[in-house]
Amino acid sequence: MYVGMDDLWIQVKMVTIKLRKRGRGMLNQSESMHGMWSSRLMFIFAAAGSAVGLGNIWRFPYLAGENGGGVFVLAYLGCIALIGIPILVAEILLGRAGRQSPINAMLVLAKASNASPAWSIIGWMGALAGFMILSFYGVIAGWAMAYVADMVSGNFVGIEADAAAKSFDDFTGDPLKVVGWQTAFMALTITIAARGVGRGLEMTVRYLMPALFLLLVVLVLYSALTTGHFVAGLTFLFQPNFDDFSSNSLIMAMGQAFFTLSLGMGAIMAYGAYMPKGSSIVGTAATIAVLDTGVALMSGMVIFPLVFANGLESSAGPGLMFITLPIAFGQMIGGQIFGTIFFVLVSFAAITSSISLLEPAVAWVVEKTRLGRARGAVLVGLIAWLLGLGSALSFNLGAEWTLTNGMNFFDVMDYVSNNILLPLGGILIAIFTGWLLSEDQLQAQLAEDQGALPVWRFLTRFIAPLGVLIVFLVTIF
Ligand code: PHE
Repeated sequence: MYVGMDDLWIQVKMVTIKLRKRGRGMLNQSESMHGMWSSRLMFIFAAAGSAVGLGNIWRFPYLAGENGGGVFVLAYLGCIALIGIPILVAEILLGRAGRQSPINAMLVLAKASNASPAWSIIGWMGALAGFMILSFYGVIAGWAMAYVADMVSGNFVGIEADAAAKSFDDFTGDPLKVVGWQTAFMALTITIAARGVGRGLEMTVRYLMPALFLLLVVLVLYSALTTGHFVAGLTFLFQPNFDDFSSNSLIMAMGQAFFTLSLGMGAIMAYGAYMPKGSSIVGTAATIAVLDTGVALMSGMVIFPLVFANGLESSAGPGLMFITLPIAFGQMIGGQIFGTIFFVLVSFAAITSSISLLEPAVAWVVEKTRLGRARGAVLVGLIAWLLGLGSALSFNLGAEWTLTNGMNFFDVMDYVSNNILLPLGGILIAIFTGWLLSEDQLQAQLAEDQGALPVWRFLTRFIAPLGVLIVFLVTIF
């Protein structure tokens, strides 16, 4: 029989496509189609980059301020250790076993474990949470960038409390400015995501993470040496005061633990898919958690001494960073320089997190469509930007669009994603990994962690899911 050159070519192509498809569905591959981190250290930089963000520098201090300082910090640390770290391990493990976007990783892992494909809901819910978080994240990050400009130009030097509040209200009340800065920040995020894992994400964290730690150390020293209220700040952070603590504080502490470790939405799972084999997951997760918690506590050590030294309110809420701090820096020697450093630090931290909020959805689009990385990143980023307009306008044109309990679009995005979707995603991840994932898969990933395995398994099977559930119930009743 005569086989034409064309037929032969078509056959070769079909075989390659089949192989490629099978490759994508295969488990425990050594590489992901999206690229890989070049070393374990780069994975730590990337994951810590995701974890360290507005959650540590903006959200943690104001939540601690509103919820009684020390008790909140204690509850938060408890949630990190007992719930956060086990789920962090689970997410890295699932990602590295699946080597794909969270949605597709969950599909192949469920199949290999004879569990229902419905477990891919973890990936879908996560992508939704990612869009919701990015919607308000991009807005706040935009403010931080705008404040770099304000600080450099000396706008806050010697500023009084009323003027600082007015300047913040004027700024957030101007839809053009808020949307403009949000757009700039999202454009940066999309550009990095479009360049891919190696040339985009890794290149960014390789330089920004060391810079971030250096700036933070400089600021802690500044706060310790110049405020004269460093000890008052430490006392506030570490001495429990049970009066201000309520069951609502508990759910805030748990939501914050998920948010700050980037858990429950697949960001870490997506990053885990690019982690090289052969290094300990438990050790890596512990390093990430320590770095993240360290940054949160250090931010508190920068902010509260400044607040107390200038006789300001620690319970100022979300405005703590944008109203209270500028007043404090405005009164301090070197405030212009160190205030600028502070908001540069916040912007760096935000960008290394926002790229991880986008990654699960971008990876899925790359796997599912023919768009490719660059167009995929633009498409996903545009959706997040559009949703973000709702959050950006919550402070001006849309201030009246509120629910019955007074929550605006921004508040709803923040509350639903952090206090509901992330913990829910976390419970599902813990149940799947603890109870359903096949033993082969588990052993293949935790080969380097035999010693910690029993403790991790106990926490993941019982403590983490029950802990989240109890906090949910306590809050509802
Ligand atoms: N962990 C980031 C922060 O603390 C926010 C984040 C949440 C990033 C979820 C990715 C996923 O700012």
